[in-house]
Amino acid sequence: MREQTIAALDIGTSKICCFIARVSDQADGERRPRVVGIGHQISKGMKAGTVVDMEETETSIRAAVDAAERMAGGSPIHDVYVNISAGQPTSRIFSVEVDVAGHEISQLDIDRVLVAGQETLKDEQRFIIHSRPISFSLDGVAGATRPLGMFGEKLGVEIHLSSVAISPLKNIQTCLNRCHLNLKGVVLSPYASALAALVPDERELGSICIDMGGGLTSISAFRDNELVFGDIIAVGGNHVTRDIAQGLSVSEAKAERLKILYGNCLSDRVTVRDQIDIVQCGEDGQDHAITIPRTMLTSIVSPRIEEILELVRDRIIETGLADIVGRRLVITGGASQISGLEELARRIFSVEVSPELRGDFHVRLGRPVSVDGLADATAGPGFSTCAGLLNYAAIMPDEVHALSMERAKPGLFSRIGVWMKENF
Ligand SMILES: Nc1ncnc2c1ncn2[C@@H]1O[C@H](COP(=O)(O)OP(=O)(O)OP(=O)(O)O)[C@@H](O)[C@H]1O
Ligand SMILES: [Mg+2]
Repeated sequence: MREQTIAALDIGTSKICCFIARVSDQADGERRPRVVGIGHQISKGMKAGTVVDMEETETSIRAAVDAAERMAGGSPIHDVYVNISAGQPTSRIFSVEVDVAGHEISQLDIDRVLVAGQETLKDEQRFIIHSRPISFSLDGVAGATRPLGMFGEKLGVEIHLSSVAISPLKNIQTCLNRCHLNLKGVVLSPYASALAALVPDERELGSICIDMGGGLTSISAFRDNELVFGDIIAVGGNHVTRDIAQGLSVSEAKAERLKILYGNCLSDRVTVRDQIDIVQCGEDGQDHAITIPRTMLTSIVSPRIEEILELVRDRIIETGLADIVGRRLVITGGASQISGLEELARRIFSVEVSPELRGDFHVRLGRPVSVDGLADATAGPGFSTCAGLLNYAAIMPDEVHALSMERAKPGLFSRIGVWMKENF
């Protein structure tokens, strides 16, 4: 049983995290990563998932990777799987058909229809990061799971494509190269989080995963074990911290502490009698200790968390996602740890999300459950993306564009492969 070493790097707005893991083929075909090296560092040089200061980002990446390498035994890593949230990610399902003129469908036909799907994005200067067939159809009849060897006139595919603008990806690639790392694979952040936080049944039956991070909140949806939707909204837990700092005239560091210790997003759970001591920055530049009712903090935290959840809900309504994947919702990410979130999400999502699906959403909080070897400190919801990157790295051979690159020449992916080599 050959053991392989894989490495993941979550370049987040709040922290940069590196996991090194070993993975091998198990008798049941599962490839569950076992983490052997962990390094995480406060993220510098990043804003809302985008590199804004390359030198600072590079320093944070180096520190995180060094720590993980040391813990894993010292050998340097070269290839890493990285998440991307920048570059206005889009994720859409396209339907395309190709003529097969009544002959037996070969692998070449399947590749041809997949490439035709990928070609739908060719005019946009974007990089396709995920490309997965959701379902095939034969002569307009959907549901052909294995069209290979069947006969028909027209072969169709519903293909899910996720793409990002090229420049932000290029900036990440440059940062990695400066750290002597090779971008082995890039994964949409919400996709990675869902791979770690959803259990296999949830991915199979249909679920929505929300990752509330520092600067961003991302949404992904799975059905039949496939990613069918991914999106990112530029608000997260750091906005809550900033609201507290402004609303109570305290430093951001103190606001962060208040949020973690006393923050609650349910106003009816906190009574006026609850008091907290805070240190305000006064107009005279001096610090002043005062006591405030805890409801004051809740009245700042609650509207912002509500706003984030409502933005997510609106996106789900707009896209009709609940009709496709159902009413199961898993919330993860560092900011999901705010007290009262599960209950608030249940209330916000219980309003009518789709005409067919009335009633309650099933909401639970999620953390990485798909890898072994995480210590308590790194098994929390803030580490779902990094753990999910390992899962992606472990299952990577199934990716369709890897097949397309090899087989469907001259396909879009081979051209992008060449383009990446020439330009990066
Ligand atoms: N116990 C806690 N209670 C509430 N919020 C918390 C807690 N711990 C961390 N957070 C918040 O979680 C956020 C960071 O989450 P996370 O580590 O998932 O972000 P990130 O992955 O670095 O950022 P992003 O995904 O937005 O790029 C911060 O806003 C932080 O204040
Ligand atoms: Mg994150």
